Amino acid sequence: MGKMMRLDKFLADMGKGSRSQIREGVKRGRAAVNGQTEKRPDRRIDREQDQVIWDGEQVEYRQQEYFMLFKPQGVVSATEDKRYRTVVDLLEGENRRDLFPVGRLDLDTEGLILLTNDGELAHRLLSPKKHVDKKYYARVAGALLEDAGMRIEAGLTLEDGTEVLPGRLEILGKGLPKERDIQENRTEKQPGGQEETEVFLTIQEGKFHQIKRMFEALGCRVTYLKRISMGSLILDESLRPGEYRRLTEEELAGLKESGEIK
Ligand code: URA
Repeated sequence: MGKMMRLDKFLADMGKGSRSQIREGVKRGRAAVNGQTEKRPDRRIDREQDQVIWDGEQVEYRQQEYFMLFKPQGVVSATEDKRYRTVVDLLEGENRRDLFPVGRLDLDTEGLILLTNDGELAHRLLSPKKHVDKKYYARVAGALLEDAGMRIEAGLTLEDGTEVLPGRLEILGKGLPKERDIQENRTEKQPGGQEETEVFLTIQEGKFHQIKRMFEALGCRVTYLKRISMGSLILDESLRPGEYRRLTEEELAGLKESGEIK
């Protein structure tokens, strides 16, 4: 990767404002490079060698960023969208322009999303060949038959003929839809109070609506879905939907190992 880049892009990537705000600011003399005021936004700098000052403070180059976000329902896993807020919009406060979500969750799915600008790591975590586990908590309506776990472990064929890699099912418990969920409209009131089952399902790939389609193939319907981990990275339970934080050094080190072995 080249170390040379435009001054305005450098400042935007480091969260100092939008490209246009920065261009304006540079022209007005808010930036300095190696001790000299620099009024050309397109001035090329060496981001590792040159000293850049913005509003009197030195700006260190942070090449790679990693955040975990508790994606709420109703937010899309994309960098931009015409109708909905995106996961990147939720990190607006970082003012970092080059973040993207690693993988996608459906509009109505909640839970762990990693946002980074590290394309290599993203590729590794998502590639089915790397066997990185993605674990989900789901509530499922309809009868989940006894052989569901075995069928999932054998590798299911979805209703359209797509074959998916083996997954792992853990059944947590059965119960009627909870009053809370009915109020939140997460599930329809089933005639006769049809059972819902709570499960963990771990898969290693991310085909379109994969988990919902896996349960459809088993004759059930997912009424609530939340991703709780990806490789060694576990959703921080102290985050509320819509909140995020930087990964710790340990989390990052663990995640980088996730795609390496096997
Ligand atoms: N599987 C789904 O069906 N939806 C998701 O959002 C993630 C996995």
